[in-house]
Amino acid sequence: MFPVPFPGHFNPMIQLAGIFHHRGFSVTILHTSHNFPDPSRHPHFTFRAISHKKEGEGEDPLSRSETSGLDLISFIRVLKQKYAEPFRETLAAEVGGGETVCCLVSDAIWGRNTEDAVKEVGLRRVVLRTGGAASFRAFAAFPLLRDKGYFSALDSRLDDPVIELSPLKVKDLPVIETNDPDELYRIITDMVEGVKSSSGVIWNTFQDLERDQIMDLSSNFHVPFFPIGPFHKHNNDLPPKTKNKEDNGITNWLDKQEPKSVVYASFGSLADIEEKDFLEIAWGLRNSKQSFLWVVRPGLVRGTEGLESLPCGFMDNIGHKGKIVKWANQLEVLAHPAVGVFWTHCGWNSTVESICEGVPMICTPCFTDQRVNARYITDVWRVGKVLERNIMDKGEIEQVVRSAIIDGGDGMRDRCLGFKEMAEKCLGKNGSSSNYLDKLVRHVLSFDS
Ligand code: UDX
Repeated sequence: MFPVPFPGHFNPMIQLAGIFHHRGFSVTILHTSHNFPDPSRHPHFTFRAISHKKEGEGEDPLSRSETSGLDLISFIRVLKQKYAEPFRETLAAEVGGGETVCCLVSDAIWGRNTEDAVKEVGLRRVVLRTGGAASFRAFAAFPLLRDKGYFSALDSRLDDPVIELSPLKVKDLPVIETNDPDELYRIITDMVEGVKSSSGVIWNTFQDLERDQIMDLSSNFHVPFFPIGPFHKHNNDLPPKTKNKEDNGITNWLDKQEPKSVVYASFGSLADIEEKDFLEIAWGLRNSKQSFLWVVRPGLVRGTEGLESLPCGFMDNIGHKGKIVKWANQLEVLAHPAVGVFWTHCGWNSTVESICEGVPMICTPCFTDQRVNARYITDVWRVGKVLERNIMDKGEIEQVVRSAIIDGGDGMRDRCLGFKEMAEKCLGKNGSSSNYLDKLVRHVLSFDS
């Protein structure tokens, strides 16, 4: 398996590794030096750092100096460039090492980068798309969107509908602020082409959630699709991961809160916000008078380490009503009965994890697929309310948070519980995800013959 080294991509790949392992496969993870994983947390898998094998080349394809200060898109460009050849060499060494390698599972973001390397060693390539099907439809439409001038409308006509991708509006298009918009376009179109030329696509979604989007895509892509999600809910019989040592008293604190009373706020592993928005969030949460658990990881607030911009005495003033941490075990937090609503940036993992626990959302999408996910959460599945990032206002935050907690947000909690049940059904005996997983296993085993 060849994951992309960001938590939102690495985590689902590791979960998928657990699913394959449970079906009797042995799994080797080929990984980059960026966000180097801790193999001791995953003792069932073999980890190989990708390095240059040829003499005279530096061991690590990525040196810090080449990446510091790059925005996300430029960083992905460098990753793809620097790892193309070392990946080829590492894969060849792995396949030549005597084990029968069944196939490569690579993250869709690597695009066609892995294609030649896989062919050279006589392997087949299955792609993992860590995001949802709805957002992939929008990515697949990039050439059309460009031809029709939608990207130029991003400055002025944000509320215009994107007729070809209903119910999306221009402001929902999955773009990101970058110094290099052409590179964004290349990365996205290469991802889509890499999916088209693969031997199959694995999705961390489930049919009852995204049936129409999956069907629409599969009628246009002539590649087998395997929507086997939600990955993290598969019963893969692996011993539980060592309890997160950095629980920071979260569980104890949650245990003391009333059922469904806590706002859990976290914006994933990559997004950042302006200091002024950070302060609006802080005051909005405080003024709502609801209990909150807020993840403020280093780097979340642009230009600061984190909490130093909070006014003096802010935390004392909140007392036991609020808890701010640098990182939380999100799966445990969302599964805790005290959590009533998740204020999220709508990364796909967070979206699926929240739906699977029946926790409705407050949506503040930041970039790329998060915008599409937010539109589906609020308008299609109707399990969340939007709080737009560019108009963070403490008064509005207070009001949205209170309504989401106090009255269950006009039925959104009940609808979310409905999706939780559907996810369980899809994973159950003869459920769609279980059936697709059976098909996937047969599919990859057939590569041998
Ligand atoms: C990125 C993109 O931003 C997202 O849009 C895309 O769908 C996947 O890649 P990220 O921003 O990190 O991901 O968000 P998300 O997809 O939600 O993944 C974050 C993961 O980190 C989740 O699995 C979540 O459970 C975990 N997490 C996050 C924690 O365990 N603790 C935290 O405090 C925050």
